[in-house]
Amino acid sequence: MISSGLVKVIEGTTELLVPEAFCKKGPGTRTGEVFYNKQMEFGRDVSVMFGRAVFKDGDKILDGLAASGARGLRLANETGVRADFVLNDRNLSAAVLMKENASANSLDHVRVMCKDLRALLAEEQFDYIDVDPFGTPIDFVNAAVQNCRNKGTVAITATDTAPLYGTYPRTSLRRYGALSARSPFAHETGLRILVGFLVREAARHDRACEPLLCYHTDHYFRCYVRIVNGAARADAAIKKLGFAHFDKASLERSVLVERSDKADAGPMWTGPLLSGELLEDMIASKDLGTSVRCEKYMTLWNEEASAPALFYKLDELAKRTKHSPPKLQAMVAKLIESGFKASRTHFDPKGLKTDAPIGDFLQLFKEC
Ligand SMILES: C[S@@+](CC[C@H](N)C(=O)[O-])C[C@H]1O[C@@H](n2cnc3c(N)ncnc32)[C@H](O)[C@@H]1O
Repeated sequence: MISSGLVKVIEGTTELLVPEAFCKKGPGTRTGEVFYNKQMEFGRDVSVMFGRAVFKDGDKILDGLAASGARGLRLANETGVRADFVLNDRNLSAAVLMKENASANSLDHVRVMCKDLRALLAEEQFDYIDVDPFGTPIDFVNAAVQNCRNKGTVAITATDTAPLYGTYPRTSLRRYGALSARSPFAHETGLRILVGFLVREAARHDRACEPLLCYHTDHYFRCYVRIVNGAARADAAIKKLGFAHFDKASLERSVLVERSDKADAGPMWTGPLLSGELLEDMIASKDLGTSVRCEKYMTLWNEEASAPALFYKLDELAKRTKHSPPKLQAMVAKLIESGFKASRTHFDPKGLKTDAPIGDFLQLFKEC
């Protein structure tokens, strides 16, 4: 029998009891009830695919801010790995509900805890630490990068998108130690600022943070990063921090290695956000109920994995050249035919990444 005020939802092959008035879309609000957001199902599907590709038997896997247990229980139920799964939330009602949800899925071996995540991380280390907070992850990043085992993964969500997009640059500076800026590619600089922050936080502990799968979708940023011991590796990661410059007159965007008067946003991560190797493994392990969206993103991420930083929007070029925009695929093909790198991007349905200098790009755009 379902307790009053709860309803059953199914994600993947996992059944979950969640509050009746659960959030259907957007970042949601703190209601005092146990939190559940249906729109984040896609993000949890991606977590399951990530877990299938990366987790090993015997790993210690932590869903640190677990609420109903949706993500952690799906990882325990759907990755097929015999690991030590730990679900934690400091809200007692959440801990009670996740225990009930664990039993309903015959996952009684899952450990349910009710602690402040920072206190838990001061006591135990894990191979995978999931941090999915309300808003900014800032409170938990240091504890997570410090208490992740060598070569383990930290997975972080940030829904404080407005500071990172450049709407509130001073908030970004306070929280992430980096200036954000509005631009047509602000979703990408926002994500890169967040990754850059993770890199700097890990480096404080002589650890390198290596991005595996970092993306933006809906109302949030999500970063899966590998944490590796070593001061030299940490230094190498720090060397990949830089700044973004946007020349509104020419539409040129560039990555600056050093801080200068031209820097509009940063410091931020300037290296790859996506690992092609990981994506191959994830694609090989797919098989999900909601796979249409996953498939779309996997294809886009795979295309984008080796693309240069800072994307363009076709609309920007159309406005500048007063030519109507060509089909995205046709423009990508034309750039590649002309000897440049080019790919679509998951950041924007009309977005494109290329290493073509802006002059060549504008010319090819008009010809396309
Ligand atoms: C956005 S919800 C997590 C959603 C969940 N991961 C999911 O996929 O459905 C954030 C949760 O973090 C919990 N929380 C907030 N601060 C915490 C802390 N310091 N330690 C442990 N849990 C905390 C809240 O009670 C809330 O349930």
